[in-house]
Amino acid sequence: MRRALDLAGRGWGRVDPNPLVGAVVLAHGEPVGEGYHAEFGGPHAEAVALAAAGPRARDATLVTTMEPCAAVGKQPACVAAILAAGIRRVVIAMPDPNPAMAGGAASLRAAGLEVEVGLAREEAERQNAAFLHRHAGSRRPWVVVKLATSLDHRIADQSGHSRWISGEEARDWVHWLRAGFAAIGVGGRTAQVDDPSLTVRGDTEPRRAPTRVVFLGHRRLPLEAALIRTAREVPTILVAPEFTPADAAQFGDRGVTLIPAATLAEGLGEIGTRGIGSIVIEGGGRLTGALLAAGLVDRLAWIVSPVWLGEHGIPAVRGFEVGSLLQAERWVVAERKPLGQDTALLFDRR
Ligand SMILES: NC(=O)c1ccc[n+]([C@@H]2O[C@H](COP(=O)([O-])OP(=O)(O)OC[C@H]3O[C@@H](n4cnc5c(N)ncnc54)[C@H](OP(=O)(O)O)[C@@H]3O)[C@@H](O)[C@H]2O)c1
Repeated sequence: MRRALDLAGRGWGRVDPNPLVGAVVLAHGEPVGEGYHAEFGGPHAEAVALAAAGPRARDATLVTTMEPCAAVGKQPACVAAILAAGIRRVVIAMPDPNPAMAGGAASLRAAGLEVEVGLAREEAERQNAAFLHRHAGSRRPWVVVKLATSLDHRIADQSGHSRWISGEEARDWVHWLRAGFAAIGVGGRTAQVDDPSLTVRGDTEPRRAPTRVVFLGHRRLPLEAALIRTAREVPTILVAPEFTPADAAQFGDRGVTLIPAATLAEGLGEIGTRGIGSIVIEGGGRLTGALLAAGLVDRLAWIVSPVWLGEHGIPAVRGFEVGSLLQAERWVVAERKPLGQDTALLFDRR
């Protein structure tokens, strides 16, 4: 299953809004075929693994990270392929949360196969958290906040400089991370101070360039900001409590989409209804604090670098209050990952 999960991860950035899925065929305990869902609309992991195994799949075990689909979608149903291949036992990490595709485990059992569900389920669900979120019925996208901080939890020095707190490996990892999201967001101050391009510039090329989203208050971005200048090349959305007709003319002319929203929850909901199922929000501190206060963060991707920025550096989280330790929310560690001198820590809200 661990091998199947690793294989599934290779679809990162290529299969959204479909799930990441990996599969291995085992004959007499030896892998004889493996596969993963590599492209949106392309062959499913199970079908690839079965094809690779060929006749060796007869009486073998299929290990897969998600319940095989029972219905025909863009691809033929995997259940039919498993039966045709003569598989005897199927080991599944997580059930398929998509009601249109679920029921695979029951169909396989009904056909007389031995079926086990739940091996490494937590890891599989963590890997497909965005997919699970979508099928849980939420209007807003799955929200990950990514921050790079000093040891004293500062995201910039006192004059606002944050390039670069983290090292090259961490920055490469961020480009890999971005590739798996439908959108990349930042707060208005960060868009102004850093003038970022919020594009994916790593080895993993996303199927679609993530949409860029800036959460504004009452201040406006200058028209010469990189995000505005390139809005015709990469989709760009501004979210703010209100927009004037002058905003609509200026930004609209440059290809920017404006979403008026009184609250962050409403803004994210609007983004979700436009088909954006996941967003990585890269600070700054005020936006992060407001998102946390509103309960809108599902995962924190936190890069900690061995550097001190001192009391006057810009805090990672602002405007977020917790009454007492008794009321404090405790999150779950999803992953700890060394990145050169830095460490990435992933935390999930329970
Ligand atoms: N190290 C890192 O990972 C990292 C990441 C990002 C940024 N940074 C650094 O962080 C600094 C900027 O951070 P920041 O905390 O000052 O600003 P920020 O969080 O980027 O932006 C704050 C602004 O967002 C707007 N906003 C929209 N909706 C909001 C809401 N619901 N609640 C609060 N604000 C909302 C407000 O604009 P109005 O003021 O118009 O009301 C607010 O001033 C920069 O120096 C940047 O270099 C570092």
